[in-house]
Amino acid sequence: MSRYPELKGKVALITGAGRAGGLGEGIARRLAAEGCRVVVTDIGHVRGAEMPASAVGSNEALEQVAAAIVAEGGDCTAITLDVLEEAQVQAAIADVVARFGGLDILVNNAGIGYLMKPIIEMEASEWDAVLGVNLRGGFLCMKHAAKAMIAQGRGGRIVNIASQAAKSAFPFASAYCSSKHGLVGLTRVGAVELGQHGITVNAICPNHVTTGLGAWQNEYFAKAQGVSVEEYLAAMRKRIPLGRPGLPDDTAAACAFLCSDDANYVTGEAMNVSGGEENH
Ligand SMILES: NC(=O)c1ccc[n+]([C@@H]2O[C@H](COP(=O)([O-])OP(=O)(O)OC[C@H]3O[C@@H](n4cnc5c(N)ncnc54)[C@H](O)[C@@H]3O)[C@@H](O)[C@H]2O)c1
Repeated sequence: MSRYPELKGKVALITGAGRAGGLGEGIARRLAAEGCRVVVTDIGHVRGAEMPASAVGSNEALEQVAAAIVAEGGDCTAITLDVLEEAQVQAAIADVVARFGGLDILVNNAGIGYLMKPIIEMEASEWDAVLGVNLRGGFLCMKHAAKAMIAQGRGGRIVNIASQAAKSAFPFASAYCSSKHGLVGLTRVGAVELGQHGITVNAICPNHVTTGLGAWQNEYFAKAQGVSVEEYLAAMRKRIPLGRPGLPDDTAAACAFLCSDDANYVTGEAMNVSGGEENH
C-alpha cells in the first residue's frame, strides 16, 4: 500500500529489524511499500550472558526479512549492525550514505524487553543490558544519523520506537520502563536540537504486540499473575478500548505517517498507538 508518494526513493535505515513478525520487519515492509530504499539491520549474534539466542535477529533471519521484501517488489538491503558499538554505527551509516547517496530516515527499533524481574532481584548487568540497547543504542544511532542528515542539508526523519512503558509503569519492568521513558526524553531533546536542520524526531508508543518479544512478555506476565496466557490475553483485550492488542502494521502506519509530508510540522511527540489503552 502506498499512501505517501513523497517517500519514494527516500533512504531509510531500521535497527533491530531482523526478526520475522517483529515491529522492525513491519516498519521495513511498510516503508518499502511506500517506495523507500530500505536498509534493515540487526545484531546478528548473541551479545552477553543476558541475551537468549531465541531473542536475537540472526544474520540468516535478517537476510530472509530483506529477501521477502525484495520478493514483494521492494528495495531492501540487509546490514549487520550492533547498536551498542559506536564504530559499527558510524561505519554502517557511512556505508549507507556512500551506497545510496544519503540517509533520510532512521528508525530506532532495536530493543531488549525480556529482562523482567522485581527491582530487588534485578542484577546491575541486566539493567545495563536493557538501558544499553534501548537508550544508549538509540542515542548512538541518532547521533550519527543526524550528523549525516545535517551534512546532506536536506532534512530528515528520526522515529524512535518507545512503548506504552514510556508513559506508564509496569511491574517487573524497571529497566524497560526507565529506558523507554528515557527514549522519549531523548526524542524531545533531539527535536529541539535538530529542528533547525529540518530534521524531525518523534517517538511511537505501542501497547502490546504479539511479536517474538511480545509472546515472551505474555508468558512472563501470565505466570506472574498466576493465570494462563489465554486468560491474560483476554483480560488485556477487555481493557483496550478498541478491543484488540496492537499489530506490527499499526506501528508501521504511524511510522509512515511520521516520515511523510503530512507530519512536516510534528516533532518531539510521543504518539500512542495503543487502541486507547494508554488513556484508559
Ligand atoms: N512487542 C511489543 O509488545 C512492543 C510494544 C512496545 C514497544 N516495543 C518495542 O518495539 C521494538 C521491537 O520489538 P519487537 O517486539 O519487534 O521485538 P523483537 O525482539 O522482535 O525485536 C527486537 C530486535 O532488537 C534486536 N537487538 C537486540 N540487541 C541489539 C543490538 N545490540 N543491536 C542491534 N539490534 C539488537 C534483536 O536482535 C531483535 O531483532 C523494541 O524496541 C520494543 O521495545 C515492542
